[in-house]
Amino acid sequence: MPESPESIIDKANSPEQAFSYIRRRGRFTAAQSRAYASLLERYRISPQDLQHRSGPVGMEIGFGMGAELLDWASQQSSWYLCGVELYQPGIGAMLTRLHSRQLTNVGLIDQPAQQVLAALPEHGLDEVRIFFPDPWPKKRHFKRRLIQPEFLAQLHRVTKPGAFVRLATDWAPYGEWMVEQFSTVEGFKLIDDRVRRADEQTAATRGTTKFEARGERLGHAIRDLLYESQHAAK
Ligand SMILES: C[S@@+](CC[C@H](N)C(=O)[O-])C[C@H]1O[C@@H](n2cnc3c(N)ncnc32)[C@H](O)[C@@H]1O
Repeated sequence: MPESPESIIDKANSPEQAFSYIRRRGRFTAAQSRAYASLLERYRISPQDLQHRSGPVGMEIGFGMGAELLDWASQQSSWYLCGVELYQPGIGAMLTRLHSRQLTNVGLIDQPAQQVLAALPEHGLDEVRIFFPDPWPKKRHFKRRLIQPEFLAQLHRVTKPGAFVRLATDWAPYGEWMVEQFSTVEGFKLIDDRVRRADEQTAATRGTTKFEARGERLGHAIRDLLYESQHAAK
């Protein structure tokens, strides 16, 4: 039976369809595919689960293969860290390492970050990291960029007063875009803004991510931004 126009419209407006430009599937290695099949349920959490944590909570959005997320978890073992990612081979890669490193302070949410933030209660996150989000360089795709006023308003709502938001990009126009978008929402203060050439040493605060290394090979400068979430006293 042909689909009704209403059902086509419903699908187009469904959360799945709204984020269909984000790549979920790709080629798995055997280890990634095994880990994805056997470990996903064990480490998968929901946004609601974050409400019940007593200690500090950090989140990395778009963790890729997960190396940075796991380093963060080892360095700050008293924190609970939540990785948000949709790309299944990346999730498999992160789960393989998470399992072999036996870290107990990491959970995973495989939903679009925009939906995750919308589902979180106010002021629950102590730090958020977003390293090398997809730059979507074509003008007609700018609306797909993660950093948008609505996303930042949600990010502000879910971060604690004084929480840090760390971002990095190797795409200079996206760096400019980020600063512009942050300036349109209330409550974020720019604390640090560093640009380094591709051949300069990486910032000591983090290791080099996979997409950063790719940017360096292409000769791109790397920009690191640090914002603080500020909330007026009630
Ligand atoms: C360019 S990669 C960077 C990965 C990693 N941070 C790095 O630096 O190597 C961007 C990642 O963000 C993920 N991503 C894009 N949009 C997302 C969204 N709305 N929610 C969650 N993850 C998203 C993609 O699947 C991809 O793995």
